[in-house]
Amino acid sequence: MSKIANRILNLSDSQTLVMTQKSRDLRSKGIDIINLSIGEPDFNTPDYIKKAAKQAINDNFSHYTPVPGFDDLREAVVSKLKNENNLDYNKEQIVVSNGAKQSLTNVFLSIINKGDEVIIPAPYWVSYIELVKLADGIPVILDTCIDNDFKVSAKQVENAITDKTKAFLFNSPSNPTGSIYTREELQSLANVFAKYPDVSIISDEIYEYINFIGKHESIAQFEEIKEQVTIINGVSKGYAMTGWRIGYMAAPVWLAKACIKLQGQTTSGAGSISQKAASAALLVSDNSKEVMKNAFKKRRDLVLELLDNIPGIKRNVPKGAFYVFPNIEFFFNKSNGNYIIKNDNDLAIYLLEKAHVAVVPGIAFGNDSCIRISYAASEAELVEAFSRIKEALGNLK
Ligand SMILES: Cc1ncc(COP(=O)(O)O)c(C=O)c1O
Repeated sequence: MSKIANRILNLSDSQTLVMTQKSRDLRSKGIDIINLSIGEPDFNTPDYIKKAAKQAINDNFSHYTPVPGFDDLREAVVSKLKNENNLDYNKEQIVVSNGAKQSLTNVFLSIINKGDEVIIPAPYWVSYIELVKLADGIPVILDTCIDNDFKVSAKQVENAITDKTKAFLFNSPSNPTGSIYTREELQSLANVFAKYPDVSIISDEIYEYINFIGKHESIAQFEEIKEQVTIINGVSKGYAMTGWRIGYMAAPVWLAKACIKLQGQTTSGAGSISQKAASAALLVSDNSKEVMKNAFKKRRDLVLELLDNIPGIKRNVPKGAFYVFPNIEFFFNKSNGNYIIKNDNDLAIYLLEKAHVAVVPGIAFGNDSCIRISYAASEAELVEAFSRIKEALGNLK
């Protein structure tokens, strides 16, 4: 009998972390690996945020924090939602956690009973499936394809709803595809959910600020379903603050209360200094978000151009985040020496070992025809990486 509980035995290792580890191992052997498997901005946290954190240390914010977060941070989230998204929330609906990942965990543990279904479009972010499983729920996956920009239709979602459906979970802008649902697409999803008031909609908006096509659209803007929606967001991606671990949710009061109860018994309130840094991030407006977004857009354009130089790759145009998710099926059943490419995983390993470029196999995100390439890297690194990828792929016959 295993000493480890089934709940952990049944969890998969995060594939993105597996690739990051493999590239670290090769790097430690002195091999020059370009890591495009990374899920975080390569920028440093803006100075005004660091300054606020230093001030918080000097001001002795060294005690336990309130479980749902400091009042000033919850108020800052309320103002952000009003000013940037035109959404009305009050402080009681905001719960601050150690990253959006914990916010998601809180939500699933709070709403899912054994056997409840959560509808999730694929490609999905790696942790969604495992978090639902951890809560004893059943992920119901809806496939999408590159020709539809990897987005689900309202009809697809409606067909998947059963009397066991507890929630619909989606991410826009998306990791791993960079796809963004338009207002019209969100409206048609909202029309479906309005018919099913017991279904919760979990909207992961963590890439809100990395949007190349305009204003962020949240599904919470549709009054008829607002009470069903929980927004998940945080400062990790938009403010280059992944290590500070601050995320938040904006939810109906009953769900916020449940998550506070759970968080009170597990982690307690998020770190004091990080919360003060996050308040500054949300309250002070400088142009750092814009600067980072513009840099990502420039790199996105560069990456698309470089991808188009590689015969056999099929890609769409990611509209946000910092990933591209090209289809690589053309290379299946080709080989180079001992390397035989049967699937996306083989291709990712081949690129790592032959081209010394780390990417993530699409299967980690529920689509085994693609790979995820992150462009959170310098332009020089991207140019070098794609030249290596092109050569390695060209050697597959
Ligand atoms: C889609 C998505 N949601 C949530 C998260 C988690 O964010 P945080 O760092 O705030 O926990 C990530 C991080 O990679 C992500 O890509």
